[in-house]
Amino acid sequence: MKKILLILLVAFILIQFFQIDKNNPAPTPQLDFLKIKDTPESTANLIRNGCYDCHSNESKYPWYANLQPVGWFLKDHIEEGRKELNFSTFATNPAKRQAHKLSEVQEMIENGKMPLDSYVLGHPEAKFSAAQKQEIIQYFKLIEADIRRSHNLPPDAKKK
Ligand code: HEC
Repeated sequence: MKKILLILLVAFILIQFFQIDKNNPAPTPQLDFLKIKDTPESTANLIRNGCYDCHSNESKYPWYANLQPVGWFLKDHIEEGRKELNFSTFATNPAKRQAHKLSEVQEMIENGKMPLDSYVLGHPEAKFSAAQKQEIIQYFKLIEADIRRSHNLPPDAKKK
């Protein structure tokens, strides 16, 4: 028993040498969703607080990101999150994908899937009230409709 604990302790110490890369890609304000849409500050703050750590190139890492394997777990979420939707480079997406992503965003917030529960636990500012949720959803809805109108795009087919 003592031996197993010792092995676990050594393993825990060893993995601390494998720290994650916490450098963010260079900022590109001219491509950033909140900047190009000139989002009202109060709504922009909610989106920054709730989504930008994983869905932008402006990720802020908490102190426990220095603790492995927690850091690996966070880094994985950030990489996955950016792949799905990166607000920092939003303008690089074709209009159709932009509109589609914004419709997904509304759905994710509506059904409580985003922000991730594990994130909200450590980030009370990302725990939205019902009114805040509606504020964000209505805003994304407006921008989505705007994009569809100016590019003549039909609404997404409804999922079952
Ligand atoms: C802790 C990191 C994290 C935060 C914070 C976060 N997301 Fe995500 N998001 C992810 C990950 C990881 C995925 C990909 C895997 C998945 O779908 O669960 C994802 C996927 C998504 C997708 C694509 C879902 C799909 O499969 O259709 C959307 C849209 C999305 N997030 C929106 C948001 C919005 C909006 C917020 C803020 C209200 C937010 N996310 C906050 C990590 C995060």
